[in-house]
Amino acid sequence: MTRNLASPKSGHPICPHTCAFMLDNFIRRWIQRPGKIVGDFLKPGDTAIDLGCGPGFFTIEMAKRVGPNGRVIAVDLQPEMLAHVARKSRKHGVSEIVTCHPCQAQDIGLSISADFILAFYMIHETPDIRTSLTQIKALMGQGARTLVVEPKMHVGKATFQTILDIAQDVGLTVLHRPSGMGGRSVLFGKDQGYSTDVS
Ligand SMILES: C[S@@+](CC[C@H](N)C(=O)[O-])C[C@H]1O[C@@H](n2cnc3c(N)ncnc32)[C@H](O)[C@@H]1O
Repeated sequence: MTRNLASPKSGHPICPHTCAFMLDNFIRRWIQRPGKIVGDFLKPGDTAIDLGCGPGFFTIEMAKRVGPNGRVIAVDLQPEMLAHVARKSRKHGVSEIVTCHPCQAQDIGLSISADFILAFYMIHETPDIRTSLTQIKALMGQGARTLVVEPKMHVGKATFQTILDIAQDVGLTVLHRPSGMGGRSVLFGKDQGYSTDVS
């Protein structure tokens, strides 16, 4: 089947900062366990980006994993979300590790080399998926990995397949299709991979 690889406009509204409590609460923590989700991808000293970090459900765990010699850049459109992250970072003693970076919808505005990028429930909110994936690739250093997880409620199989196809088109490769992440999930690298067909 020939797929349209034009950059789809998601049209999905962003999750407003007034709903931050829905993204970080004990029920989600019980279901999703952020440390388990990101744990395998991080090691002490790593540079990691939590893209579309929201109120920091994953950011704090990421900071604990990379430790004092690493860094986590929490990136979001909404300064109010970043304010939550900054407050939590202080509370958990990781404010020296976490940097909050406000971005524009179509411009992440970073030029660093990351070891790991997390885009959790975020890609479908971006105005232009191709632009986002291209910028993600540019931020990946040698051997870096990017974990994308999308909510099944908002992202159907076909849309996720389009994301995979665009990713491949911009030079990302599928390393793994992890399960148990809480949505449609893919681990990207830049070097090698296998077929991006959704199973
Ligand atoms: C559904 S929330 C998920 C937050 C967090 N990743 C989590 O799983 O708890 C999506 C977040 O992505 C942010 N976002 C949406 N579009 C974005 C963009 N183009 N660049 C950066 N952040 C974006 C929103 O502001 C929101 O905080």
